[in-house]
Amino acid sequence: MALWDGRFEGGPSAEMQAFSESLDTDMLMWREDIAGSMAHVTMLGEVGLLTAEEAATIRDGLSKVEKDLEAGWQPDIALEDIHMAVETKLGEHIGALAGKLHTARSRNDQVATDVRLWLRTRLDILDESLARLVGAICDRVEADGRTLVPGFTHLQRGQPIWLGHHLLAHAWSLHRDRERVADVRRRVNRSPLGAAAMAGTPHPIDRARSAELLSFEGVAENAMDAVAARDHLIEAASVATICMVHLSRIAEELVLWSSREFDWIRLGEAWSTGSSIMPQKRNPDAPELVRGKSGRVVGALNALITMTKGLPMAYNRDLQEDRSALFDAMHTTIACVRVTAGCFESMTIKGGPDLTGDFALTTELADFLAGQGVPFREAHHVAGGLVKLCEDSGQTLAELSLADLQAAHPAFTAEALSWLDPEAAVERRTSRGGTAWVEVKRQLGMLRGD
Ligand code: ARG
Repeated sequence: MALWDGRFEGGPSAEMQAFSESLDTDMLMWREDIAGSMAHVTMLGEVGLLTAEEAATIRDGLSKVEKDLEAGWQPDIALEDIHMAVETKLGEHIGALAGKLHTARSRNDQVATDVRLWLRTRLDILDESLARLVGAICDRVEADGRTLVPGFTHLQRGQPIWLGHHLLAHAWSLHRDRERVADVRRRVNRSPLGAAAMAGTPHPIDRARSAELLSFEGVAENAMDAVAARDHLIEAASVATICMVHLSRIAEELVLWSSREFDWIRLGEAWSTGSSIMPQKRNPDAPELVRGKSGRVVGALNALITMTKGLPMAYNRDLQEDRSALFDAMHTTIACVRVTAGCFESMTIKGGPDLTGDFALTTELADFLAGQGVPFREAHHVAGGLVKLCEDSGQTLAELSLADLQAAHPAFTAEALSWLDPEAAVERRTSRGGTAWVEVKRQLGMLRGD
């Protein structure tokens, strides 16, 4: 029978038990559940709600339950959730004294505590993984960043850039993800323990003390909010979703760049797979899966937000659904960050296309004229005309003569021809945040925290 069966005669049907139990997801946070109980018992002992001997006996019993779980004990689903499983097992070890553990608490504040502890650790792991990924991108930039590639807009060649400039654009988005992780962590790091069902308790507990024992930064002030709030989960899933969107954009480019059509990179063997029918294939499955898994995390955010909307205060059983979404979002995001780091750590940069005379240099002609005092709008029009001339005559920009340029605009001088060197074009862009190597290096320093 359940621990709550006092007013029941029969109890839930087998189908209801199977429908309502949460052990499958709860078992992922049994360590947190034991930690929460340990802190609670210690506090109960300190404030005199348990004798020192009782507190010590319960703590010993909890250590035994911890060992049982470590050894692979799988609670029966009739025990419903991890909280009742632990308490029942504790009773098997220490007898009726186990019943005092639940003084001044409820499963509602317990589950809220467990999830916060679980999430805090995963946010730290996510942050470490993101730091590794940002580091891997920075290493790649340092080693191969001076590779000339076209920068795109609309996936059409725009202007030449260093590949390092492009990669750092991704690194900055991941850097902001780290800021978001730190931000949500502060709101996660508050203790709901001792809120009890939602109204607090008549017993003289010390919530600040149990919070301290669990390394929380403080308590969730309102007992009803403490058990009912899930906005920190929604926020964590939002942060995970934004991160997955960033990873998905990176993944898309890794897939494109490793194609024969681009051929800019070769993914390491450890992060590629073959085809069961086409022997030549070396498929970019790692980034493809990252791109695909982003959908799962978006779905988890959607589930959490929809589940919480319209719930009356305070705890409702709907909230039990929070873990499958949250846990999956965090597990998936952490795995995807790591896999992406693995891709960057092991890939080879093969090089970009030859940009000599490429139309991606047309802006240089306009910028040259603008530097001579020609209004940019007029310069843009003139440079556009030169592209048309090239297209009509089947030439590249590099094949234009000084006479061709001067026929288009008298402000062109011989120096204009040197502006069509792709590397010189990149290195001219020294404005803050521009693609010139000096700026790439400056940002590398910032991202590495030097
Ligand atoms: N298994 C429940 C959950 O995961 C624990 C809290 C149950 N509280 C209750 N009043 N039924 O949310």
